[in-house]
Amino acid sequence: MRIGVLTGGGDCPGLNAVIRAIVIQGEREGYQIVGFTEGWLGVLENRSRKLSRKDVEDIQSEGGTILYTSRTNPYKESNGSIRVKDTLKKEGIDALIAIGGDDTLGVANRLYQEGVKTVGVPKTIDNDLSATDYTFGFDTAINIAIEGMDRLSTTARSHHRAVIVEIMGRQAGWITLQAGVGAGASIILIPEVPFYIEEICETLIKRKKEGNNYTIIAVAEGAKAAEGSKFLSQEVVKGEKIDAFGHILLGGIATLLEKEIAKRTGIETRSVILGHLQRGGRPSAFDRFLATRFGLKAIELVKKEKFGQMTSLRGTEIISVPLQEAVGETKRVPQKLYEEVVKPLWGE
Ligand code: F6P
Repeated sequence: MRIGVLTGGGDCPGLNAVIRAIVIQGEREGYQIVGFTEGWLGVLENRSRKLSRKDVEDIQSEGGTILYTSRTNPYKESNGSIRVKDTLKKEGIDALIAIGGDDTLGVANRLYQEGVKTVGVPKTIDNDLSATDYTFGFDTAINIAIEGMDRLSTTARSHHRAVIVEIMGRQAGWITLQAGVGAGASIILIPEVPFYIEEICETLIKRKKEGNNYTIIAVAEGAKAAEGSKFLSQEVVKGEKIDAFGHILLGGIATLLEKEIAKRTGIETRSVILGHLQRGGRPSAFDRFLATRFGLKAIELVKKEKFGQMTSLRGTEIISVPLQEAVGETKRVPQKLYEEVVKPLWGE
């Protein structure tokens, strides 16, 4: 059998560990593995390369993806799905493994509904896919964000400053929540819980009065002010064009908050946008392990002809769930968890 594999959407550390496991286990099963480059674009344009064991030697420790990626959506291209099917036929691909987030897996699901044998592997630093407890890339991103906030704490302390750290997560605040708690941020702002600028400023002034001579504020790029607050009440965008899946490019809420907080409190304030640092570099141990397990499971699903399925982490078990489930609603931080870990430590 010839098995296709692609990596789509935002890249993250761990992708190469999945590819490595797919190639090694696939070859053990006697399969030929064909990598398509730049996500779905590679299938549309038939840009492929045979992958063998020597191509994946030791890549589990490398960030990024040897197959490159893109945010191409075949269903936004003329005759997109037909061109995809033509490529798969021409290359004699018997099954296709798509490694990606809700956008990439949404395409894999539609193609499955149209008769293509697809298997999905969930990937995103955002950890916002509801059909799996964790996605690889998330743990590495948390550690990068914590490392950044730990470093910013020493300079904030030296200057008696408030430092606002903007963290990725698109519409879900998982990275901001876990990294913020881990770094001991006094204020944690996530998209799921609109904030009041008035409350933030009161907290900063109170901290200053109590002799806390610096504050770290962790803010998700998709955080927004509550209705009624006399401040920005819509998410901040970089104003870039919408991508092929309808997403706007977020970024800049920290800069706005920096100006507003300094103006309202008189406290010296700075802001830092961690941005794509959270997507770069070597994967954490957790992500390498999870990604490898996902790759092995993907080959098992192909072998058992369980298509239209996605690998999934449930507790400590690797299972499979219908792709349809994976591409449902975004997994967002529940209010209960926010109440449990943010409220008690707010302002500390
Ligand atoms: O989906 C992962 C992610 O890193 C989001 O957290 C972020 O908003 C987005 O991708 C950035 O997209 P791009 O890499 O296309 O700039």
